[in-house]
Amino acid sequence: MPDAYILGIESSCDETGAAVVRSGQGVLSNIVASQIATHQPYGGVVPELASREHLRAIVPVVRQALAEAGQTYQSVDAIAVTQGPGLAGALLVGISYAKALAFALEKPLIAVNHLEGHIHAVLLHQRKMEQRQSENADLHFPVLALVVSGGHTHLYLAQLQENLWTYRNIGHTRDDAAGEAFDKVAKLLGLGYPGGPIIDRLAPHGDPHAVKFQTSQIKHPDRRDHKRGDHTQHRAEEDGLQFDFSYSGIKTAVLRYVETENLKPAIEARRQALAGIGTPTLEDVRGLSDRQLLNLVASFQRSMVDDLVVKTLAAARAYDVRTLFVSGGVAANRELRATFEREAGMEGLPVFFPSRALSTDNAAMIAAAAFPKFLRREFVAMDFCADAGMALR
Ligand code: KG4
Ligand code: ZN
Repeated sequence: MPDAYILGIESSCDETGAAVVRSGQGVLSNIVASQIATHQPYGGVVPELASREHLRAIVPVVRQALAEAGQTYQSVDAIAVTQGPGLAGALLVGISYAKALAFALEKPLIAVNHLEGHIHAVLLHQRKMEQRQSENADLHFPVLALVVSGGHTHLYLAQLQENLWTYRNIGHTRDDAAGEAFDKVAKLLGLGYPGGPIIDRLAPHGDPHAVKFQTSQIKHPDRRDHKRGDHTQHRAEEDGLQFDFSYSGIKTAVLRYVETENLKPAIEARRQALAGIGTPTLEDVRGLSDRQLLNLVASFQRSMVDDLVVKTLAAARAYDVRTLFVSGGVAANRELRATFEREAGMEGLPVFFPSRALSTDNAAMIAAAAFPKFLRREFVAMDFCADAGMALR
């Protein structure tokens, strides 16, 4: 089969992305225009500003993606775009542009679920194509995919048959997503935005056992006593087991710690000092962080990581999966990756992550997820709509 070159476009939140991917795996280009500087003063994404920034960036970003890939508008085989979930106005920018391109160029148009994109980011590679292709051919199903980002903490069972990927949601957060908890805690501590990468870099400098945090325990039957291969999967499927998460409690616990330890004056001083710097570096943030803060950050991250890993591995056991995928912005977290590798490794469960750069929002993952749909000729008509609350099935 000849290679297929898909131009992917992503604009669901605060990154404008365009990428060209060869046959679902080879990243020829991956351009991401980040809006961090725009939203930083507000400590979170402002939807109206996001749409405006996407409008500004979309044309040059697509042009650059084609140029870096050595492709042209005419040479690509299809155009893929994120349909949802995400901010409606932001999604519309990418969708309108993708529709216009597909119409003018008479190319097939493929609509992709952003969450499916995150899952397919695991299959992407930037070098050693042949080697990774054979690795992908060895993927064993069912796959359990944890998508852990700013908007989602979701567990999916994934199956693949004749280029058709199907998903079943077996767990999700009941309140805040994990990335949201990182961002809110960083904001609360006056550390800046977005919080995940900052906490990731600060945590190794603190003592992760200094403060005891409890993540909420969601009741679900404990299957730990069941060994793999003893038909547990069938039982789990029949029971329809849920493996849910909850992260608003730990955020409140951090707030309570801040209040009881009277950390507010120091936090306010740090916030003001960082605002004065404009675009602070990690060294600036670290220089403004005392030991107690570093211990707090390290303890928070450790609780988050432990909870994500313990619950995901419990689900992997209950459903007797053969492979684990961990993707989404929080999958860039170093401690999360190391802990998953260690703990899943102890159970003999292969775990795959995207590269750290492809864990956060990008368009290469959208082009990757579009490839099986391209093979199935699953194209959309010009009247398809953005779906801000789109579910993954
Ligand atoms: O996947 P993503 O780019 O956008 C969404 O689809 O939400 O994820 C963004 C989220 C943010 O909450 C950000 O703080 C978090 O991912 N994040 C991280 C790290 N890098 C990004 N969280 C923890 N550690 C990181 N290194
Ligand atoms: Zn995302």
